[in-house]
Amino acid sequence: MDQDMSRIGVSLPENLLEKFDKIITKRGYSSRSEGVRDAIRGYIRFYDWMGEVQGERIGILSMTYEHSRRGLVSSLLDVEHEFATITRSTVHVHISNDECMEVLILQGDGKEVKAIAERIMALKGVKNVKLTTIKPGQEA
Ligand code: NI
Repeated sequence: MDQDMSRIGVSLPENLLEKFDKIITKRGYSSRSEGVRDAIRGYIRFYDWMGEVQGERIGILSMTYEHSRRGLVSSLLDVEHEFATITRSTVHVHISNDECMEVLILQGDGKEVKAIAERIMALKGVKNVKLTTIKPGQEA
Protein backbone atom coordinates (compact mmCIF):
# COMPACT_ATOMS: atom_id res chain seq x y z
CA MET A 1 0.00 0.00 0.00
CA ASP A 2 1.44 3.36 -1.06
CA GLN A 3 -0.56 5.61 1.22
CA ASP A 4 0.74 6.61 4.65
CA MET A 5 -1.32 4.87 7.29
CA SER A 6 -2.33 6.29 10.66
CA ARG A 7 -3.32 4.18 13.63
CA ILE A 8 -6.34 5.15 15.71
CA GLY A 9 -7.82 3.70 18.89
CA VAL A 10 -11.60 3.61 19.12
CA SER A 11 -13.78 2.72 22.11
CA LEU A 12 -16.93 0.82 21.15
CA PRO A 13 -19.75 -0.87 23.06
CA GLU A 14 -19.07 -4.62 23.00
CA ASN A 15 -22.32 -5.55 21.22
CA LEU A 16 -21.61 -3.03 18.44
CA LEU A 17 -18.17 -4.52 17.87
CA GLU A 18 -19.61 -8.07 17.90
CA LYS A 19 -22.16 -7.15 15.23
CA PHE A 20 -19.49 -5.42 13.16
CA ASP A 21 -17.18 -8.44 13.39
CA LYS A 22 -19.99 -10.77 12.27
CA ILE A 23 -20.63 -8.60 9.22
CA ILE A 24 -17.00 -8.34 8.18
CA THR A 25 -16.62 -12.11 8.57
CA LYS A 26 -19.69 -12.72 6.39
CA ARG A 27 -18.49 -10.25 3.79
CA GLY A 28 -15.04 -11.81 3.69
CA TYR A 29 -12.93 -8.85 4.74
CA SER A 30 -9.34 -9.79 5.36
CA SER A 31 -9.17 -7.75 8.57
CA ARG A 32 -11.18 -5.61 10.93
CA SER A 33 -9.14 -2.60 9.76
CA GLU A 34 -10.29 -3.13 6.18
CA GLY A 35 -13.91 -3.20 7.36
CA VAL A 36 -13.42 0.00 9.38
CA ARG A 37 -11.81 1.73 6.38
CA ASP A 38 -14.77 0.79 4.22
CA ALA A 39 -17.28 1.94 6.84
CA ILE A 40 -15.49 5.31 7.09
CA ARG A 41 -15.51 5.64 3.29
CA GLY A 42 -19.27 5.02 3.34
CA TYR A 43 -19.72 7.65 6.04
CA ILE A 44 -17.76 10.18 3.98
CA ARG A 45 -19.77 9.35 0.83
CA PHE A 46 -22.99 9.91 2.79
CA TYR A 47 -21.68 13.23 4.07
CA ASP A 48 -20.77 14.32 0.51
CA TRP A 49 -24.21 13.23 -0.74
CA MET A 50 -25.83 15.31 2.03
CA GLY A 51 -23.86 18.31 0.75
CA GLU A 52 -25.64 18.01 -2.59
CA VAL A 53 -29.12 18.21 -1.04
CA GLN A 54 -30.24 21.70 -2.09
CA GLY A 55 -33.21 23.42 -3.73
CA GLU A 56 -36.82 22.34 -3.19
CA ARG A 57 -36.95 18.80 -1.80
CA ILE A 58 -39.32 16.25 -0.43
CA GLY A 59 -37.58 14.21 2.24
CA ILE A 60 -38.24 11.10 4.27
CA LEU A 61 -36.28 10.98 7.49
CA SER A 62 -36.50 7.80 9.54
CA MET A 63 -34.86 6.85 12.82
CA THR A 64 -35.10 4.67 15.89
CA TYR A 65 -34.40 5.91 19.41
CA GLU A 66 -34.38 4.89 23.06
CA HIS A 67 -37.31 6.80 24.51
CA SER A 68 -36.21 6.21 28.11
CA ARG A 69 -32.89 8.00 27.65
CA ARG A 70 -33.01 11.05 29.88
CA GLY A 71 -33.83 14.23 28.00
CA LEU A 72 -33.86 12.63 24.56
CA VAL A 73 -37.60 12.83 23.80
CA SER A 74 -37.66 16.47 24.82
CA SER A 75 -34.54 17.31 22.74
CA LEU A 76 -36.01 15.50 19.76
CA LEU A 77 -39.31 17.39 20.07
CA ASP A 78 -37.41 20.68 20.36
CA VAL A 79 -35.62 19.96 17.07
CA GLU A 80 -38.87 18.86 15.38
CA HIS A 81 -40.64 22.04 16.50
CA GLU A 82 -37.73 24.17 15.32
CA PHE A 83 -38.25 22.71 11.84
CA ALA A 84 -42.07 22.74 12.01
CA THR A 85 -42.37 24.74 8.78
CA ILE A 86 -40.84 21.94 6.69
CA THR A 87 -42.49 19.03 8.54
CA ARG A 88 -45.56 17.75 6.69
CA SER A 89 -46.22 14.69 8.80
CA THR A 90 -44.71 12.43 11.45
CA VAL A 91 -45.38 8.75 12.13
CA HIS A 92 -44.46 7.21 15.45
CA VAL A 93 -44.29 3.47 16.12
CA HIS A 94 -43.59 1.99 19.59
CA ILE A 95 -41.31 -0.92 18.71
CA SER A 96 -40.68 -2.27 22.22
CA ASN A 97 -40.71 -1.09 25.84
CA ASP A 98 -37.68 1.01 25.19
CA GLU A 99 -37.45 1.58 21.46
CA CYS A 100 -39.41 3.86 19.15
CA MET A 101 -39.35 4.41 15.41
CA GLU A 102 -40.21 7.74 13.92
CA VAL A 103 -40.60 8.79 10.30
CA LEU A 104 -40.79 12.46 9.30
CA ILE A 105 -42.12 13.55 5.94
CA LEU A 106 -40.44 16.82 5.06
CA GLN A 107 -40.86 19.35 2.29
CA GLY A 108 -38.93 22.55 1.81
CA ASP A 109 -35.48 23.89 1.10
CA GLY A 110 -32.88 21.13 0.85
CA LYS A 111 -30.59 22.96 3.26
CA GLU A 112 -33.30 22.83 5.93
CA VAL A 113 -34.06 19.17 5.18
CA LYS A 114 -30.38 18.39 5.60
CA ALA A 115 -30.10 20.56 8.73
CA ILE A 116 -32.86 18.72 10.62
CA ALA A 117 -31.33 15.35 9.65
CA GLU A 118 -27.91 16.43 10.94
CA ARG A 119 -29.36 17.79 14.19
CA ILE A 120 -31.26 14.57 14.84
CA MET A 121 -28.25 12.38 13.96
CA ALA A 122 -26.18 14.21 16.55
CA LEU A 123 -28.59 13.38 19.41
CA LYS A 124 -27.28 10.60 21.67
CA GLY A 125 -29.64 7.61 21.70
CA VAL A 126 -30.92 8.20 18.16
CA LYS A 127 -29.91 5.39 15.80
CA ASN A 128 -30.46 4.16 12.25
CA VAL A 129 -31.07 7.64 10.85
CA LYS A 130 -31.84 7.51 7.12
CA LEU A 131 -32.63 10.41 4.85
CA THR A 132 -34.01 10.01 1.35
CA THR A 133 -34.81 13.08 -0.74
CA ILE A 134 -36.67 13.64 -3.99
CA LYS A 135 -36.69 16.70 -6.21
CA PRO A 136 -40.35 17.51 -6.87
CA GLY A 137 -41.27 17.37 -10.54
CA GLN A 138 -38.13 15.53 -11.55
CA GLU A 139 -38.64 13.10 -14.43
CA ALA A 140 -37.40 9.59 -13.78
NI1 NI B 1 -42.77 5.17 21.15
